[in-house]
Amino acid sequence: MQLDAPSLLRTLILMVTLLATSATPGASSARFYRLSFMDDHIIFTPGGNLEDTTVAQRFNVTSSSQCAAECLTMESCSSFFYHRGDGLCLMHSVLFLGKDEASLKNGTTYWQLTQDDCPSGEGFVLYRELGLCYKYHDQLVYWDTAETTCNATGTSLLKVDTPDKFRHMYLFLRGSTATRAKHVSIGASEKTGSALWRDGSDVTWFNWADNEPSSPTEQCVNMGWFFSFKWNDVPCSSGGTIAQYNFICQKDI
Ligand SMILES: *[C@@H]1O[C@H](CO)[C@@H](O)[C@H](O)[C@H]1NC(C)=O
Ligand SMILES: *[C@@H]1O[C@H](CO)[C@@H](O)[C@H](O)[C@H]1NC(C)=O
Ligand SMILES: *[C@@H]1O[C@H](CO)[C@@H](O)[C@H](O)[C@H]1NC(C)=O
Repeated sequence: MQLDAPSLLRTLILMVTLLATSATPGASSARFYRLSFMDDHIIFTPGGNLEDTTVAQRFNVTSSSQCAAECLTMESCSSFFYHRGDGLCLMHSVLFLGKDEASLKNGTTYWQLTQDDCPSGEGFVLYRELGLCYKYHDQLVYWDTAETTCNATGTSLLKVDTPDKFRHMYLFLRGSTATRAKHVSIGASEKTGSALWRDGSDVTWFNWADNEPSSPTEQCVNMGWFFSFKWNDVPCSSGGTIAQYNFICQKDI
């Protein structure tokens, strides 16, 4: 579902265009989609003592459209909760996947930012600060299958190549129980001998966990929850269920 009031759309077009500092040709198509399974729930501080992902809060906002417009003025805003009773507009930098971390607050709706440059379908959220669309796949597969799956939809396995990107993904992964204790395949492999991003670019920032990489037979890379999501080498296509992980597809825009 999307907010489709013509006036809102004009606001979005204007604001996103103004905010776009890098080349984002399709930026005019920014929109929010509502995740109705989150209805009546709100997340204030995910993950207990996790660093707060709240970007800003506003009170006495009169509609979800107004909250959406507020979100668009902040480049680090990717999702928001709107409560029609008290007009609370609570904006976050990350997306949320489930209500298990949420408090009950009847009358709340939850919306995520995306745009037409992101692959279609629910699940791809836009994080403008990094020019990135990404989607978490709650599906345990070998690394090779994860890469094939991302590639098949015109995306690629997540490339966590900068500290900023790692921090964003860390906050997202730590933010809900759906992801907190999971391993996530990322788009790096040692198939050619050294850790290498699959798009062929040089590795300029390393984020191996302590004592990793650990095995010459483990040639693919994931972010392991018990390494605080730092890089860990893993088998690419063998080892049974213990070597099958969730994954994140991304698309740079
Ligand atoms: C919201 O509006 C009500 C009524 O106008 C006012 O009493 C209240 O202080 C406002 N809340 C905030 C946080 O601005
Ligand atoms: C929300 O609504 C449900 C039923 O519709 C009710 O049982 C619950 O007490 C309400 N919770 C709050 C916080 O108002
Ligand atoms: C997926 O795409 C990457 C380029 O991003 C390429 O290096 C890789 O070989 C592709 N993998 C598959 C399984 O098609």
